[in-house]
Amino acid sequence: MKGLILSGGKGTRLYPLTYTSAKQLIPVANKPVLFRVIESIREAGIDEIGIVVGGTAAEVKEAVGRGGRWDAKITYIQQDEPLGLAHCVKISQEFLGDDRFVMFLGDNVIQGGISKLIGEFATSGWNSQIVLTRIDQPEQYGVVVLDDTGRVARLVEKPKNPPSDLALVGIYMFDPSVHKAVAAIRPSWRGELEITDALQWLVDNGYDVRPHIHRGWWIDTGQPGDMLEANDLVLEELDYKVEGYVDRDSQIGRRVTIERGAEIINSVVRGPAIIGENTRIINSYVGPYTSIYHNVVVENAEIEHSVILEFSKIRDIEARIQDSLIGRDVVITRSPIKPKALKLTLGDHSQLGIL
Ligand code: G1P
Repeated sequence: MKGLILSGGKGTRLYPLTYTSAKQLIPVANKPVLFRVIESIREAGIDEIGIVVGGTAAEVKEAVGRGGRWDAKITYIQQDEPLGLAHCVKISQEFLGDDRFVMFLGDNVIQGGISKLIGEFATSGWNSQIVLTRIDQPEQYGVVVLDDTGRVARLVEKPKNPPSDLALVGIYMFDPSVHKAVAAIRPSWRGELEITDALQWLVDNGYDVRPHIHRGWWIDTGQPGDMLEANDLVLEELDYKVEGYVDRDSQIGRRVTIERGAEIINSVVRGPAIIGENTRIINSYVGPYTSIYHNVVVENAEIEHSVILEFSKIRDIEARIQDSLIGRDVVITRSPIKPKALKLTLGDHSQLGIL
């Protein structure tokens, strides 16, 4: 089997964090979502992985490289316009050849491994397997109706009146018959070649499309709230360890990861939390559900239930920072210069909640 990861798109719903960064590279619990996707495909024993890239290709290529870190061979496939998931399959045909493959959206995080599922599909005679989950508001997703025998009967992309509560979670397995399907379908109302239409084509033409209903959590990291939620859920699952330095005056909770080169000085860190490489926490409190990425400084400050990206500095802040997403190279500090006022330099689409 091969793996196909979709990592195009602009990530507009995550602005401003994604103005300068691909959404798939934003870390959840200090690891880019895309790396988590690569790992779950590798866990299934697949080492030939194609990544479909768009406008953020250069950045994705720089972060992922040729795959040596995962002992995998990565092939990049350029998609010039975001013309849909089925279009991604179409332009990946040369890479996919006649192999069965799993297609995974590069911005989705799912609980637990999917390697068993992929293994099951690899040795089955099914033409496709799709992963579904029950959700309250499926209007934003592809929605699936099963027949009495539990097989896939009908699929609709983002229906106004969802015919069921089963949403497609962005993990699809196919055999080569999908290539006939993507060649047969036409663009949808939103101008995209929809993978749901390709699946419907398979069903209508008598191919065997199996559903798997996923019972754990699943997050489409499309929006800032989702990012914090994904971070909470993944932090709960970490294997906690301390590889950095913790001085004698600090207290570290049980469920805490301190990465290489990090320093905790005269501070309290309560888990679940992760402190990234070469980050320094000095005279501070880091509370539960916080991910602080690499090369950050937190000094004389309190922060809880937040995500801070690399090279940011937070110093001498009295109010506790909570429920916050802080991007890269951000500086938050107390200003000694009069007048005593908030002095802000915020990018477009920033959001600030003042006491
Ligand atoms: C895509 C698919 C949709 C699926 C969703 C999962 O939606 O078209 O069927 O449920 O991913 O994240 P899009 O991200 O294009 O809105």
